[in-house]
Amino acid sequence: MKTRLIAPSLLSADFGNLQRDIEMLNRSVADWLHIDVMDGRFVPNISFGFPVMKTVKEHSQKFIDVHLMIVEPEKYVEEFINSGADLVSVHYEACTHLHRTVHLIKSKGAKAGVVLNPSTPISFLEDIITDADLILLMSVNPGFGGQKFIENTYKKIGQLRDLIAKTHSQALIEVDGGVNMENAGKLFDVGADVLVAGNAVFSSESPEETIRHLKA
Ligand code: DX5
Ligand code: ZN
Repeated sequence: MKTRLIAPSLLSADFGNLQRDIEMLNRSVADWLHIDVMDGRFVPNISFGFPVMKTVKEHSQKFIDVHLMIVEPEKYVEEFINSGADLVSVHYEACTHLHRTVHLIKSKGAKAGVVLNPSTPISFLEDIITDADLILLMSVNPGFGGQKFIENTYKKIGQLRDLIAKTHSQALIEVDGGVNMENAGKLFDVGADVLVAGNAVFSSESPEETIRHLKA
């Protein structure tokens, strides 16, 4: 049975009503809660950090998927795990010692993900694919919600699926950026296991319904 997980991104939630939105996600069929951490250096935007993470953890019943868009993520990994992260993903482009950082995350008891920007080739994963629990493919340039999906992602999912099969890796494939009702089905069909959706969920009339549709 193929995994078809939906991870709504909190970046598009109403921060004035964060608890309400987290409780809505608790009631929904969402599988994970995706948390986008931005530092204004790795990406041209700043989002939120530990205090918000802790609030999320307090109210959420979902698996917490933390996407670090920050330089030197190794410095903060442990505090994110202590703040409630179940999975921490770091960018290939932000880690000089990626293997060390992946194993640091695992040693602290969380799952470890590796993220690729749209222009970073799948072949760069060859020597980390069997260490990672998840590969997150960016289908927009990271930094902002509500951007247009980059079509080349389909090709990359196929290449990643081949690499996972060839190496007998257990890594899940997650796709993040511009996911909506039109492309979700195809993304699952070509091999994505987890889809992140921000704008599509939170700007819809009924977020709970939208999550159900994306999953189906
Ligand atoms: C982009 C973030 C995404 C973003 C997705 O930098 O990593 O997680 O919230 O938002 P949508 O689904 O609106 O493209
Ligand atoms: Zn993200």
